[in-house]
Amino acid sequence: MIGLIFCVLCVSGAAWTYTGPKGVQHWSKSYPFCGGVFQSPIDLQTPLLQYDPSLVPIEVHNYDLLAHEQLTLGNSGHAVKLYLPSKMYILGLPNRYSAVELHVHWGSPNTPAGSEHTIDGKRFAAELHVVHFNSKKYSNVSVAADKSDGLAVLAVLIEVSGGGACGEEAGPHCLGILLKLLMQKYYQKVQVPAFNIRHLLPLRLDQYYRYDGSLTTPPCYPSVLWTVFRNPITISHTQYILCKLTQLAL
Ligand SMILES: *[C@@H]1O[C@H](CO)[C@@H](O)[C@H](O)[C@H]1NC(C)=O
Ligand SMILES: [Zn+2]
Repeated sequence: MIGLIFCVLCVSGAAWTYTGPKGVQHWSKSYPFCGGVFQSPIDLQTPLLQYDPSLVPIEVHNYDLLAHEQLTLGNSGHAVKLYLPSKMYILGLPNRYSAVELHVHWGSPNTPAGSEHTIDGKRFAAELHVVHFNSKKYSNVSVAADKSDGLAVLAVLIEVSGGGACGEEAGPHCLGILLKLLMQKYYQKVQVPAFNIRHLLPLRLDQYYRYDGSLTTPPCYPSVLWTVFRNPITISHTQYILCKLTQLAL
């Protein structure tokens, strides 16, 4: 199985990579916004945090998708993205933001943990991003992507619990969906049954860190209002390994 996964060709010739001559340290040469003052991700240092009584709980709407609603799973060359219907939206932010896609950062072969945000220097196993655009002001995500109030991302830190079999309830779709993707030819989009996206978020949507930041990858536009939930979600060790291997094969 592992042999099969690593045999799959790496996507090369992409305009940027995480390591090597087009790696993170070189992004700003081709993408001037990268490395700017709003650059995400950040280390959330709890002694520096300030309580803001004006922040209200995040409200998610129409996240409870049903299996007969098909979703498109695509490979951007850097990540597997699950495209979401714009009827899904969130409130509790300065604008109404509609969903675009979700993806997970699993880290690289050399990194034991792949979360982008860290809390007091602690990196988590992985990190889920649910990307939304300001649908009150902009007609679609392409128009919103470089606007200062264009995007809002919900970030969920992911922890791995000991043991666990395939197909457990926490994040059950990750495994099946990603394995299905592996079976497809690269760049071919596949349809997968929808599920309740709310199950990928922690129970408490009223405890989070909020800051103004950017896209974490090129072109790094400083356009993202970040909500990083305080409580991580947990997936099984098996799911984590398989998902990470699948992602790394891309
Ligand atoms: C986004 O909206 C703009 C302006 O309304 C339009 O020109 C463009 O084609 C749209 N892009 C997509 C991908 O729908
Ligand atoms: Zn991301």
